[in-house]
Amino acid sequence: MESFIKGAREKGHSVEVISLAKKEVKPCLGCNACRYEKPCIQKDSFNELVPKIKEADCLVFASPLYFWSISARIKAFIERFYCIAIKDENPPFGRYEKYPIKDCALLMTAADNNFWTFEHAVSYYRYVFINYIGFRDKGMLLAGGCGHTDGLPQIDKTNHLNEAYEFGRNIYAE
Ligand SMILES: Cc1cc2nc3c(=O)[nH]c(=O)nc-3n(C[C@H](O)[C@H](O)[C@H](O)COP(=O)(O)O)c2cc1C
Repeated sequence: MESFIKGAREKGHSVEVISLAKKEVKPCLGCNACRYEKPCIQKDSFNELVPKIKEADCLVFASPLYFWSISARIKAFIERFYCIAIKDENPPFGRYEKYPIKDCALLMTAADNNFWTFEHAVSYYRYVFINYIGFRDKGMLLAGGCGHTDGLPQIDKTNHLNEAYEFGRNIYAE
């Protein structure tokens, strides 16, 4: 993430980092209060993030691979989009709500590095973020081989930091 940001800032982009490890964003409770014009009943950090989501041109999601998927924190964050959806009067097949449409990208690390390592995470990203919510895909960096079973980081033994830097530099390249 830091390498990506370095590249993006060097190209003049303004980047704000929001750590879902430091902010508490709980999963949706499915109470449906928001479906009756009520604010979300959960009083956590999501409310303060809503204006930032709406202002951003691009949301870049950075996550370790946990149990072959995106982190539960990002999953919870995405579930809370339920309360900022507005009714789509003319929904395309399979979509019933409109969300703030943003560019979006995915940065992931994993310990393993098999051809199927990121299969579920990528499928979730494509299905939910792009096809369902409707974000415009700006690409993804899938950084396998970044960890060891002893938990020691080894991303610096790979080329992924350089790839992340280049991704940040070129995300809006012509
Ligand atoms: C709870 C937990 C679950 C994990 N699940 C997977 C997994 O399913 N597949 C995998 O390749 N790595 C898995 N890992 C390893 C992390 O993805 C890896 O340590 C991380 O991406 C490396 O980045 P870091 O050095 O920034 O932590 C898991 C790690 C933890 C702590």
